[in-house]
Parts: sequence; C-alpha cells; structure tokens
Amino acid sequence: MTTWSCFLFLALAWSFILIAIAYEKHDNHLPVVHVINALPNNSEPMKIQCTSPRTDTNLGEYTLNVGDDYQWNVTHKSLYYCEALWERWFASWHAFQPRRDVSHGTVYWLVKHNGFFLSWDNSSWVRKESWQTE
Ligand SMILES: *[C@@H]1O[C@H](CO)[C@@H](O)[C@H](O)[C@H]1NC(C)=O
Ligand SMILES: *[C@@H]1O[C@H](CO)[C@@H](O)[C@H](O)[C@H]1NC(C)=O
Ligand SMILES: *[C@@H]1O[C@H](CO)[C@@H](O)[C@H](O)[C@H]1NC(C)=O
Repeated sequence: MTTWSCFLFLALAWSFILIAIAYEKHDNHLPVVHVINALPNNSEPMKIQCTSPRTDTNLGEYTLNVGDDYQWNVTHKSLYYCEALWERWFASWHAFQPRRDVSHGTVYWLVKHNGFFLSWDNSSWVRKESWQTE
C-alpha cells in the first residue's frame, strides 16, 4: 500500500514536471513586438512606456525618433499595454493581446500621424488606435 502511494506520488510529480516543461517551452515562442516610429520627418520624438499590469512588468520609458524600431520579447501570456506621447497628442493601446496575437511570431506596430497600425507580417496594416488630445 505504501509503496503504491509512493509510486503514485512520484508519477503525479513527474507529470507536473512534464507539464511545467511543456508550458515553459511554449512560452519561449511568445512573439516579439516592434513599435516603429513612422511619424512625419522632422517631427519631435515620441515617448513610450509599456507595461503588463497583471504580471507587474514595466518595460520602462523610451524615446523614439522618427524611424526608430523599439522592440521587446513578450515573456508572459498576458496583456501588454503601451502609452505614447507625441507633441500635444497622447494614446494608449494594447500592444500584445494574448488571444489576438499569441499565434504570431512577431507583432508590428507602425505609429503614424493618423494612428497606430497593427501587422503580423510587416506589410499589411490595420489601424487600431488614434491619437487623442484633451
Ligand atoms: C522622410 O525621410 C525618409 C528618409 O530620409 C525618406 O525616405 C522619406 O521619403 C521622407 N518622407 C517624407 C514624407 O518626406
Ligand atoms: C528576444 O529573444 C531573442 C531570442 O531569445 C533574442 O535573440 C533577442 O535579442 C531578444 N530581443 C530583445 C529585444 O530582447
Ligand atoms: C519592415 O519593413 C520595412 C519596409 O519594408 C523594412 O525597412 C524593415 O526593415 C522591416 N522591419 C522588420 C523588423 O522586418
């Protein structure tokens, strides 16, 4: 009886380890996110800060000049949210949405004067967000 429970316990522990490894492997394939500043030439740099509130991740504040490509690896399968400031405009958007983006290797955002455009192939773009003023 004791041997049996011991065996069962080990089998159970082993399956948990296998599940954890599978999960970890899956996480390694989470996308890379690019945010490309495609604002008009000679415009002021934009400021950007991205966070993943549920996992308490803050990627810090960055300044992007026109043409800059800011990128980071998604490390948690949870929402990443970015805030941007440019001249007198501001915006916030979901840079990584697990359900929408998880099956793609790369998530591209093109930031233009008329809004924020999403692509998974760096060639076809859909506008998802606009700049706001108060
Ligand atoms: C902005 O600058 C880039 C690189 O110098 C150039 O290729 C592009 O044509 C310019 N765009 C405009 C609208 O002037
Ligand atoms: C993202 O992860 C890849 C593979 O591990 C690594 O080569 C790359 O430098 C990382 N990119 C960033 C922006 O950290
Ligand atoms: C995305 O496409 C642009 C224009 O074709 C190219 O200049 C850029 O290098 C590409 N970026 C990536 C990360 O593939």
